[in-house]
Amino acid sequence: MRTRHACAIRISIPKDRLHLRVDQAQVEAVFFSFFRNNRGKNEAIELDHAAKGRGQKMKELEERIRREGAILSETVLKVDSFLNHQVDTELALATGREFARVFGDEKITKVLTIEASGIQFAMAAGIALGVPFVYAKKKKAVTQSDKLYVAPVHSFTRGETYQVSVDQRYLNAGDRVLIVDDFLATGAALVGLVDIVRESGAELVGVGCIIEKSFQEGRGLLEAKGVRIHSLARIASMKPGEVHFIEETGNRQLTEERA
Ligand code: G4P
Repeated sequence: MRTRHACAIRISIPKDRLHLRVDQAQVEAVFFSFFRNNRGKNEAIELDHAAKGRGQKMKELEERIRREGAILSETVLKVDSFLNHQVDTELALATGREFARVFGDEKITKVLTIEASGIQFAMAAGIALGVPFVYAKKKKAVTQSDKLYVAPVHSFTRGETYQVSVDQRYLNAGDRVLIVDDFLATGAALVGLVDIVRESGAELVGVGCIIEKSFQEGRGLLEAKGVRIHSLARIASMKPGEVHFIEETGNRQLTEERA
């Protein structure tokens, strides 16, 4: 059972500074860091999340996809104005907090992703969980060691196959790993990362994705491997000018038209 500690904060403001406008983000940041330092990480995450309104930012994510996403075909969605070319940093940080809320009890020690577009989201999750993140590299650099975990991955958008690799020093049998990526599509990249985690002997806690295209085979492939998946926006179907999201309500799945 969690122990609750009473606490009081005394704030003194000189009279001549009472006219100062209070910036909500700054106040939140001060309180978030106070609770993180004094009351434990998970509780701080809960408080931060409650302060912002649960799920509100994730509704914003769906709105942004609807407003700014360019649906190039029935399988390709372009979201490079806020997600994977220019990045909305506040939205990215909010996705990290959401993954920390969902997977917060799992004692995660490391977040894993693949370059390039997973990096900002793995970093956000790593910040929210207070752990490092590691990204798998698609090309071997001269600076890399020879002790690597390697998996072949075919890129959906680039049409190339990469030997993705992670230095063995950064993934160990004692780790509890959350994989984070921008898209869950055909599952090729994520299956490669799952294989790398399992080869390392680390425990895979789950996979967190920003956008899932549920009509593609990725979720099925991962579930067949026994992987827990949490996606922040799940697209049931799309075509130019139209996107349909899946909403989970208890055991029911509702498909809602949002465009
Ligand atoms: P996955 O489901 O395991 O992610 O595998 P898949 O091979 O299907 O997709 C991996 C790559 O394709 C990733 O980028 C991912 O971001 C991208 N991707 C998949 N579907 C879409 C889409 O509808 N729109 C966009 N913009 N990207 C998509 P990548 O090719 O490895 O490149 P990058 O991360 O270096 O940009």
